[in-house]
Amino acid sequence: RGAGYGAWLEYRGLKGEAAQTKYCRVIAPQERDIVMETAVAELARGLGHLFGQGEAAIVATTGSAGLSSSVAIGLWGDGTIVDELFRGTALPEPGGEGYAIRTDRETGGIAIGAASPIGALYGVFHLLRLLGTGRPVEALELVERPVNPLRMINQWDNMDGSVERGYAGSSIFYENNAFTSDTERLSDYARLLASCGINAISINNVNVHRHETMLITPALLPEVAKVAALFRAYGIRLFLSVNYASPLEIGGLVTADPLDEGVREWWRSAANGIYAAIPDFGGFVVKADSESRPGPFDYGRDHADGSNMLAEALRPHGGIVIWRCFVYDCKQDWRDRSTDRARAAYDHFKPLDGRFLDNVILQVKNGPLDFQVREPVSPLLGAMERTNQIIEFQIAQEYTGQQRHLCYLVPQWKETLDYDTHLKGEGSTVKRIVDGSLHGSRYSGIAAVSNIGSDDNWTGHLLAQANLYGYGRLVWDPELSAEEIAEEWIRLTFGGDERTAAVIGKMLMTSWEIYESYTAPLAVGFMVNPDHHYGPNVDGYEYSKWGTYHFADRQGIGVDRTTHTGTGYTSQYAAPNRELYEALESCPDELLLFFHHVPYTHVLHSGKSVIQHIYDTRFEGAARAEELKKAWDSLAGRIDARLHRQAVERLAGQVEYAKEWRDVINTYFYRKSGIADELGRKIY
Ligand code: GCU
Repeated sequence: RGAGYGAWLEYRGLKGEAAQTKYCRVIAPQERDIVMETAVAELARGLGHLFGQGEAAIVATTGSAGLSSSVAIGLWGDGTIVDELFRGTALPEPGGEGYAIRTDRETGGIAIGAASPIGALYGVFHLLRLLGTGRPVEALELVERPVNPLRMINQWDNMDGSVERGYAGSSIFYENNAFTSDTERLSDYARLLASCGINAISINNVNVHRHETMLITPALLPEVAKVAALFRAYGIRLFLSVNYASPLEIGGLVTADPLDEGVREWWRSAANGIYAAIPDFGGFVVKADSESRPGPFDYGRDHADGSNMLAEALRPHGGIVIWRCFVYDCKQDWRDRSTDRARAAYDHFKPLDGRFLDNVILQVKNGPLDFQVREPVSPLLGAMERTNQIIEFQIAQEYTGQQRHLCYLVPQWKETLDYDTHLKGEGSTVKRIVDGSLHGSRYSGIAAVSNIGSDDNWTGHLLAQANLYGYGRLVWDPELSAEEIAEEWIRLTFGGDERTAAVIGKMLMTSWEIYESYTAPLAVGFMVNPDHHYGPNVDGYEYSKWGTYHFADRQGIGVDRTTHTGTGYTSQYAAPNRELYEALESCPDELLLFFHHVPYTHVLHSGKSVIQHIYDTRFEGAARAEELKKAWDSLAGRIDARLHRQAVERLAGQVEYAKEWRDVINTYFYRKSGIADELGRKIY
C-alpha cells in the first residue's frame, strides 16, 4: 500500500534514548478471546516495529515469568502475572472499557490490566502511543476510562461505491453494488478506529437507497455478518442505516405506518433475522422525514411513534435505534420569511420529550443548520431531559474545504463540547450532556461522519488524518486539548523532530480560523455553490428551497432570529444564553449574522464595522493560506518525502482557492454596499 496508509500506526522506529530499553516480549494469557487476540497481536506488532525487531515474541503464560524486557497483558482477577502486579497497588479497578498500566520498578517490565478484552486493547494502544510519541515509560502508574460510552463513526457509503460527501476516493466497503473483496483494508480501518477509541460504526449512508435497503435481508446479511466480524475483532459494534419505508419497498406491505400491526411484525421479524446472523448487532441509524426520505409523517404519526416501533423490534436483542433529528422543511419558499430552518429540530423534537423508549437515542447535529464553518450550538442538545441524546459531528469536510483545504476541526468540536447550555444552571456543558452525566441518560455519546475513502492515505489530504485521529481521541476524553491531540498525531505520523512538531502544530491550530476568515463571514452560513458545496457562491442558496438565506441587501446582511423582531429562534436557548444572543449589544461577534440583520456600518465589539471586518478578514485569510503553504514547504527534507509531497499540491490549491473566495466575497459586498475598503486594496 502507498505512503500514508499506515497513518498514525506506522510506528516509526525509535531512536536515541527512547530505543534503549527494548521491550521484546509480550506476556499474554493462555486463553484469549478474539479481542484479546487482537490486543496481543497489536502489542507484538507495535513493539516489534518501534524497537526494530520485526515482531516481539509472544510468551503465553499464567505463571510469573520474569517481566524484564516485557510487556504483560491480562485481565483483572485472571490470576496471571498482571493480576499479581496490580493487586499490590492502590490503582482502582478500571472497569468497563478502561485499563490500567503500570511499570514494575524492579524489573522495568510493564503490565497492562483491564476488566475486559476491549479495555486491554485500548491499553495496548495507549502504551504504543506513549512509546511512539517519545514519552517516558519508566514509572507508569495510570488508570484510564473512556468518558463517552458510545464513540461512533457513520459511513455515508453507498453500495455503488460512491460516498456521499466523500472527498478521499470511493468507498472501501462496496463496489458495483456488492461488498468489497478487499477485507484486509476493512480490518486496517477497524484497527485505525480502535486505536483512537472508536467502538461503533454504521456502514452505509443515512440516505438508504434501493440496494442498501436490502442490507437487512437474508440476501445480504451473510455479507454484513462478515464485515461485522472484522470490526468485532477490534471491539467495534456494527450498525446499519435503514430505510423507514422498508416494509413497503421490500416487504410487500402496502404501508409503513408505525402503528400498523403488520408493519410492526415485519420489523420484529427483520430484527430476528439480523440477530440470528449477527448476535451483537448494534442497531439502526435512521434518517426519516428528512430531505425527502420517508418517515412516520407520511402516515400522520410522529417521530416517537416511528422510532419506538423500531426500538421495540430491537429491544429483545439489546439493540438500539439512533434516530436523527435533521428534520426541516427542505421545500421552503424563499419568499416565506416566517419559517426558520434553524428552529426546526427543536420545534419537532422538544415536545416529544418523555415519549421515546429507553433504547432510542436522538442524534443531533452540533449546530442548528448543517455543519457550517461557524454556527451556534444546537439548542436541542440537552433540552430533552428524559430522552437519550448523542451529538453528531462531521469529520468529512463538506463545508470546510472538502479535504482540499486544511481545516483541523478538533478546536471547533471542543468549543461545542465546552459550551455551557445553562440548562441545569452553570456547568451544564454539552460534554456533560453527551457523556450522559447531566441527565443520567441510559445511552449517550458522540457520532461523526467519517472522512475516509479508498485513497492510499485514507483521507485524501494527508493532514486531514488529524481530524479522524483527533475525533477519536477527543471523544475518548473531551478534556484533552486540541494542541495535545495535534501533537500526538504529528509525532506518531512524522516522527519526533521538534521543528516538524512545531510547524505542523501551528498549521493545524490556525487552520480553522484561516478557513473561516476567507469564507462566509460572522456565522452567516451558506455561501457555497449548490449541490456539491465547494467554492464561493454568495447567492448560491439565496433563492432556493433549502431554507438557508443571508438576506444581504444594499444596506445590510444577516438573519434576524431574535424573539422580539425575528423568527424567535433565540427563545430556544436557556437563560442567560437566550438574552446573550437576543441583544445586539451582547451577541458575540463571531455569531452576529446568525442572530441579527445589521447594516454594513454596524460596529462590532472588535471596533470594526461589519463591512471592514469582511474585507480585512478576507484579505488576511487569503494571505494566511499562503503562510500555510510556506510553512509546509519549509519541512521539505525534514519529513518523509513521499508524505511531504502529498500535501504540497493541496496546499497550493488552497492558496489559489482562498483568493477566489476573497475576491468573490469582497466584490459581492463592495457592489452591494458601495462602501470602499478603508485601506484601498484591490476589489473588483
Ligand atoms: C447535508 C448533506 C447531505 C446529507 C445531510 C444529512 O445536508 O449535504 O448530503 O445527506 O446533510 O445529514 O442527512
